[in-house]
Amino acid sequence: MPTTANPLWNPWCSDARTLELYRKRCRREADEMTCAAQAAGIFGKLCKPGETLLDAGCGGGYYWWSLANRGVKVEYSGLDYTPEMIELARAEMCQRAHLPAERFILDAIENLDRPFDNILCFNVLTNNPHYALPLERLLACAKKRILIRESMGDELIVRYTPDPYLDEDKRHIRVYHNQYPLAEVKAFMEENGFAVTSIVDERSKDGVEMVVDIPHRWRILLGERKNTKGGR
Ligand SMILES: C[S@@+](CC[C@H](N)C(=O)[O-])C[C@H]1O[C@@H](n2cnc3c(N)ncnc32)[C@H](O)[C@@H]1O
Repeated sequence: MPTTANPLWNPWCSDARTLELYRKRCRREADEMTCAAQAAGIFGKLCKPGETLLDAGCGGGYYWWSLANRGVKVEYSGLDYTPEMIELARAEMCQRAHLPAERFILDAIENLDRPFDNILCFNVLTNNPHYALPLERLLACAKKRILIRESMGDELIVRYTPDPYLDEDKRHIRVYHNQYPLAEVKAFMEENGFAVTSIVDERSKDGVEMVVDIPHRWRILLGERKNTKGGR
């Protein structure tokens, strides 16, 4: 049974403006995200044609465009626990990207149990209660490499705050905007069998970006599996 996010607490089904922005990204009516372009550039240098890639917390699945436009010929799948996001991805991306509906998986990262050569997870774990459990699953399922972008700094900061940008009747919903300790996250990835490299985030230049009025320190980590036998 897939786990879906409960609408009682899920901000991603409570934000019509963000959903419309994501729809525009799927239709290429909005600017490409700098971080999506950067992710595609990184995978483009590392992936062999035909490798599988999971976009974990894929939203509308529009990172597919960034990969395809740079000739990164991976077998793309997206996973998201918000039904509205998977519906959006299937409605807007399947035809455009010639992908079957099953490539968009409705489930939580926490349930992931199948291997992918590459895993991409950008702007997701920051909004989760903590990074460790979902990252552990992602690491277990990444056969070759994993690329993450989350808010990371010197210390752990857990923020669980109301979001004034949600739909008017949903503003009682609180959202995690956590910052994770960079050194600890790196060590966690290393303990799980990966060689880890920091890559400067092109959008923020590793500075501070205000997102919904909250400081975020976006950092990108590339994990490359040392023993390529793993992947579950
Ligand atoms: C901030 S959006 C980012 C979407 C996309 N990765 C991007 O960078 O534009 C976070 C997405 O991750 C999904 N998400 C958050 N936590 C998740 C989890 N534990 N399992 C599956 N999906 C999750 C949300 O439903 C939402 O669509």
